[in-house]
Amino acid sequence: MYSSPFHPGSLRDTSFLVTGGSGFIGSNIVHYLVRHQAGKIRILDNLLTSSIANLEPYLNLPNVEFIEGDIRDLDTCHKACKGIDLVTHQAALGSVPRSVRDPLATHAINATGFLNMLIAARDAGVKRFVYASSSSVYGDHPVLPKREDETGNPLSPYAVSKKTNELYARVFAETYGMQIMGLRYFNVFGPNQSPDGPYAAVIPLFMKAALDKTAPNIDGDGEQTRDFTFVENAVQANIRALFTPDPEANNRVYNVAIGERITVNELYDIIAELTGSEVRPTYRERRAGDIRDSLADISLAKKHLGYQPTVRIREGLQQTLAWFRQTVGQ
Ligand SMILES: NC(=O)c1ccc[n+]([C@@H]2O[C@H](COP(=O)([O-])OP(=O)(O)OC[C@H]3O[C@@H](n4cnc5c(N)ncnc54)[C@H](O)[C@@H]3O)[C@@H](O)[C@H]2O)c1
Repeated sequence: MYSSPFHPGSLRDTSFLVTGGSGFIGSNIVHYLVRHQAGKIRILDNLLTSSIANLEPYLNLPNVEFIEGDIRDLDTCHKACKGIDLVTHQAALGSVPRSVRDPLATHAINATGFLNMLIAARDAGVKRFVYASSSSVYGDHPVLPKREDETGNPLSPYAVSKKTNELYARVFAETYGMQIMGLRYFNVFGPNQSPDGPYAAVIPLFMKAALDKTAPNIDGDGEQTRDFTFVENAVQANIRALFTPDPEANNRVYNVAIGERITVNELYDIIAELTGSEVRPTYRERRAGDIRDSLADISLAKKHLGYQPTVRIREGLQQTLAWFRQTVGQ
């Protein structure tokens, strides 16, 4: 992974803050920064939905600093941003169903926590702030592929929180002259994505079931489609956004995906084939707040960030499975 860099020059003189850095996507960003010898990598995470084990290989490195803290606390955000050049903000409470069950927690972390981070980044004079948005902001807009300027009504509290991020980001960029870019991730998967807990994502759940030779659950008829995105592509988008020299790139949101979609049934078939599982899935009720189809137009990220996905779904699933076998010991 990451043999050729997505950034220009050396990272030795640059300090980074990765919020949510012990989580799935955040820890993959940390991995990239360590591999490319970033001058300073500070991580802010309260370990709410992740394990410190994701950071175990890096915690003793002299250029890595871990702050266990909460973005709901403005002082913590101020401390985390002090002396930082570039922020990649990944900390959030993920999962649409969790937000349907507990909208207040989602709002406190994803909306208020986000605002705290923007304020802290502004006060610290951070040069650029890149943050995780989500394809969920497309909501009920029916047209495919999804283009950044055509969104519908959010279908869940989670989607509202991500939409709120985009609104605040725009206002902070315009009002305080900050450099801010949002990344609308489309169903990211890969190493360090946990299959555990009630809100685990579909790919780790399918892999665990296939390796255990048990039946996975599919919500609805399985004909819903997604633009599944291997995490290396999401890391690439973050790094490219932090470094793009394009003056037109600032104050925008970008789709981060492959630009191809498959059904959930097809996804399970690939995983079953790769693992040799012959167990068939169990179908259950459609989930509240879920969108039916998802496919990204990634031309804006290509144009302004130079983003070019390098790993497609099948290869990404193979790499994820290799990690799964190592970690889960199958
Ligand atoms: N994984 C996806 O498919 C996907 C899709 C769209 C958007 N996103 C967004 O990408 C970002 C990263 O998601 P992920 O999949 O890596 O999830 P994750 O749960 O693995 O990572 C989120 C991290 O944020 C931390 N966190 C949560 N609340 C916090 C708080 N109050 N203070 C500090 N840290 C806190 C968690 O402990 C965790 O380490 C999130 O903003 C998520 O909403 C993810």
